[in-house]
Amino acid sequence: MKTMIWEDGILKILDQTKLPEKIEYIEAKDVETVAGAIRRLSVRGAPAIGAAAAYGMVLGANSINENDREKFLAELNSIGNKLASTRPTAVNLRWAVDRVLNKVKNRDDLNVEEIKALLLEEAHKIFCEDLEANRKMGEYGQSLIPENARIITHCNAGALATAGFGTALGVIRAAHRANKNIEVFADETRPLLQGARLTAWEMMQEKIPVTLITDNMAGYLMAVGKADLVIVGADRIAANGDVANKIGTYGLAVLAKAHGLPFYVAAPTSTLDLSLSSGSQIPIEERDETEVTTIGGTSVAPTGVKVWNPAFDVTPHELVTAIITERGVVKPPYTENLRKIMEKDTETSEVCRGQNPSR
Ligand code: MRU
Repeated sequence: MKTMIWEDGILKILDQTKLPEKIEYIEAKDVETVAGAIRRLSVRGAPAIGAAAAYGMVLGANSINENDREKFLAELNSIGNKLASTRPTAVNLRWAVDRVLNKVKNRDDLNVEEIKALLLEEAHKIFCEDLEANRKMGEYGQSLIPENARIITHCNAGALATAGFGTALGVIRAAHRANKNIEVFADETRPLLQGARLTAWEMMQEKIPVTLITDNMAGYLMAVGKADLVIVGADRIAANGDVANKIGTYGLAVLAKAHGLPFYVAAPTSTLDLSLSSGSQIPIEERDETEVTTIGGTSVAPTGVKVWNPAFDVTPHELVTAIITERGVVKPPYTENLRKIMEKDTETSEVCRGQNPSR
């Protein structure tokens, strides 16, 4: 199932709010539709948001009626700021917007039409490189997964949250493909049920054994000895290794520590934000209260009750056993080792040149 498809100048976005009941694509012909889809979580998961935003920039650029290079770039910049503000926590969004802007910033040799073509090329590259990164993370990560492992995961860090294959679920996929006889426990992930609706569905599609639990069952599952490790994705990782991820991740990490279980985070380096020294600087998105007071449109709380709805939390690095990236597995001390991995030379991918990878 493709998270998004670029076809004939249109971005088709799989509407994840409708899953698993319906498979429907939103046809985004302008950047506003992309921004709305990101805000509503029709497309969600840090890397998928980044790729969608890159294509959104292409749609935004195509709508600018301006032949003057400088004026065109100024408009594009402001489109980028609007897109990046749709969801503040996942750094991949700002990262992708900045990457396409930087690609065309100093290209005085190009006219506006050529800049538009270059933007599309870069968006395709972002999509393609994410897919490649996930496959690499799968390989590095699966070496950490023992035979017969019973794995808890939270939210959805799967193919649906990325350009394909997934981060945390990519590691799980790779372990399954290596015949490790694994079993997955998917936290349902209130309030929006990404675990129940998306992770359980993704695992079942691929016939990976999966058991759905509500979020408050994970501790007992560990206590009765039915879990061996936890693996989750990330929306932003600070320089010291603190990890922002879906609300509930922190609690899971504390539980894993209490039960002596490894707690792994799988994320591409586009999710690292080394400009922030610690997780306390990560902006945490707060969402509408109706997400808490309703389930599937049905009210489950008294009208007018006060609600707090942070979409993410921060897991302190002391609770993280290792961070799996496409450049390798990073272990503590994170400040030193994350910096080192970013300095590592990476080969530029031949695979990601000159094609539309989303088709
Ligand atoms: O609010 P969401 O569904 O976008 O939250 C997604 C998560 O928290 C994921 O775990 C994270 O983005 C990593 S996805 C590979």
